[in-house]
Amino acid sequence: MLKGKHILLGVTGSIAAYKAAMLCRLLKTAGAEVKVLMTPTAKEFITPLTMATLSKNPVAVEFYNPENGDWHSHISMGEWADCLLIAPATANTLAKMAHGVADNLLLTTYLSARCSTVVAPAMDCDMFAHEATQANIALLKERGVTVIDSPSGELASGLSGKGRMAEPEAILRFLESFPGLNQKKKSNLAGRRFVVTAGATIEAIDPVRYITNHSTGKMGYAVAGELAARGARVTLISGHTVLPTPAGVERTDVASAEEMYDAARKAFADADGAVMCAAVADYTPKEVSPSKIKKDGDTLTIELRRTKDIAASLGREKGDRLLVGFALETDDEIVNAEEKLRRKNFDFIVLNSLRDKGAGFGVDTNKVTIIDAEGGKALPLMSKSDTAAAIADRMESFFER
Ligand code: CTP
Repeated sequence: MLKGKHILLGVTGSIAAYKAAMLCRLLKTAGAEVKVLMTPTAKEFITPLTMATLSKNPVAVEFYNPENGDWHSHISMGEWADCLLIAPATANTLAKMAHGVADNLLLTTYLSARCSTVVAPAMDCDMFAHEATQANIALLKERGVTVIDSPSGELASGLSGKGRMAEPEAILRFLESFPGLNQKKKSNLAGRRFVVTAGATIEAIDPVRYITNHSTGKMGYAVAGELAARGARVTLISGHTVLPTPAGVERTDVASAEEMYDAARKAFADADGAVMCAAVADYTPKEVSPSKIKKDGDTLTIELRRTKDIAASLGREKGDRLLVGFALETDDEIVNAEEKLRRKNFDFIVLNSLRDKGAGFGVDTNKVTIIDAEGGKALPLMSKSDTAAAIADRMESFFER
């Protein structure tokens, strides 16, 4: 995943700068190309010589080289990078990033970079907890910067708490599954909030049994990951799945259709849009037996009642926000999908047909048709992550209007 990727490693003036050396080495071992940018204060903590030797590239600190006048272009460095990774990121640098201060090469590079930006904060626990720092971090997240959470632990100050930089190995693992590395151009989804529903709901019959379906959540998780990679703030409302949470996504687990309805409506209140990938039960047992139902007789009848339609409910109140639906059909696919598009007030609907080989439950590929009020566009058989990218591209066009 990191092979051949261009990582611009920004190092700022924190005691954790010594970890940047190990991080640089790990990135190089994983096959990435690394160029290092340091703030003037970072040089007090670790030498450019160390970072240049490890990255096998000259280190840039000042706007120009005082010996020969060579100009270090912040624009070209930003263009070279697939990702600007600032680790460690001090409270000072985070504050300047949040407020557009451009008084060193690292900051001008951040302001002009079109690639994704990832920061790993590093500071004392009280500085980290301070309202100003937390507000700056929230603002940066809002604008699409990905923040690698700071773990709790012993700090250089002797205190203990949250604020230390994530370990280089953890940062490497994060980057290895960070889809934002493939994102060259800054997306207009960056900073917007989206709700994604995914996976199957579980409708209890009694404490032991339930009704569910074959959805594994792969498509919804791929969409959530792709949106986060483009800098969006994603709340993933997840039914039953065994999948790991995609990088940068906030996940809320639910079981029943009713729980998913409540969680999705709550998250949609301040969202710019929603993508409804979940396979929601249309019916749920009218009554859940409080104790295990014992066998008795040859047949058993369970009375079911309709669940609430989450998508239709968001569709009624969406206004000019974006609502994307999914339709899984076996017959009269296009006609059924178009009917759902209108009835649920989707801006577009992603149709998969169970008749298509390689599409549907559990597999890693999908073959979809994206349908809006103007008509449909059939896409070829692709991986679910490429399908998610196509859906995100279509979402970007919605916000270009
Ligand atoms: N959906 C939802 N809440 C429900 C049922 C469906 O949010 N209670 C959403 C799905 O996530 C999907 C879309 O609505 O985006 C279409 O779901 P589907 O089950 O195919 O449509 P239904 O309206 O349930 O139609 P039918 O079962 O008749 O095919």
